[in-house]
Amino acid sequence: MRIAQRFTAFCFTAALGLLPVISLGGVGEGQELYEAYCVVCHGGLGEGQTMGKPLTDSMANRLSDEGLIGVITNGRSGTGMASWGGTFKEQEILDIASYVRMLQGKPGLSLAEDNAAGNANDPAVLAGKSLFEGVAGCVTCHSYKDQGGAVGPALDGIGSRLSDAALQEALLNPSASIASGYAAKEVEQQDGTVIRGRFRNDSALAIQLQSEDGKRWVTYFKDRVKAVRDTDESLMPDVFATLSAAQQQQLMAFLKSL
Ligand code: HEC
Ligand code: HEC
Repeated sequence: MRIAQRFTAFCFTAALGLLPVISLGGVGEGQELYEAYCVVCHGGLGEGQTMGKPLTDSMANRLSDEGLIGVITNGRSGTGMASWGGTFKEQEILDIASYVRMLQGKPGLSLAEDNAAGNANDPAVLAGKSLFEGVAGCVTCHSYKDQGGAVGPALDGIGSRLSDAALQEALLNPSASIASGYAAKEVEQQDGTVIRGRFRNDSALAIQLQSEDGKRWVTYFKDRVKAVRDTDESLMPDVFATLSAAQQQQLMAFLKSL
């Protein structure tokens, strides 16, 4: 419902009702237009060229659908990114934006709500926020808007970075796919205690594990510990699965508002 409403509002502010029938899922002429106008600076796969930047990096992935459409329409003043609003029709911009989403490995545009849409007062979002910061304990490991822990990735823009299905999978089954840069290793100490954590600087001599509160990197010298092992298990506990269905929905609503 809400998506449909937003979408209508978007069309309404667009070119005077001259829009053809819009298909949200498809990319229409998006690929052709992208290849004709954008490749020179952004590369055929969105990998970036000298005059542009990658469209598949985390910065570009974080753009909300509306942000993405906004950059293409209005450009970024003071940079090489010109405004294309005068060159293309609304539908063409939507098609190009959908194609950019596909280059990012996403299903296309969803025109999902974002903060700018003012859903901060949605009761489900508010309830989800208090779970996130309260009993569900997410904030001890995750930040948004620079507030919170640093054991897991910052969750700003997570709703546009992951599809609903991928988001649900990340929550229900954290070990199924580990966010890149967040793999863990285990150090078994001489007394048998095992410490797990995100790691860096793994060398023949030593390895550093992130402390449990995410604030420090602790060095373990390999000749002084029993073993250092890889682990396929996520550092993220299966908290989400223990919540009620209603709580899960609230938490999802909150995450999608980020
Ligand atoms: C002449 C080179 C050039 C062309 C052509 C160009 N861009 Fe860009 N684009 C840039 C540059 C440079 C930036 C980075 C602007 C900045 O510093 O924020 C950018 C930024 C962007 C961003 C924002 C990325 C982010 O991470 O915030 C998007 C999206 C984008 N371009 C899409 C497109 C699309 C779609 C087209 C084709 C219609 C296009 N660009 C054509 C140079 C170009
Ligand atoms: C003990 C720390 C910890 C807690 C508590 C925790 N997480 Fe995580 N989370 C992680 C780590 C580490 C990762 C990255 C590894 C992975 O992908 O499984 C992660 C990954 C994620 C991802 C995927 C991020 C991406 O960029 O792909 C989401 C979404 C997420 N957590 C949400 C939550 C929510 C919601 C809660 C509360 C119910 C929560 N986490 C609780 C540590 C934690």
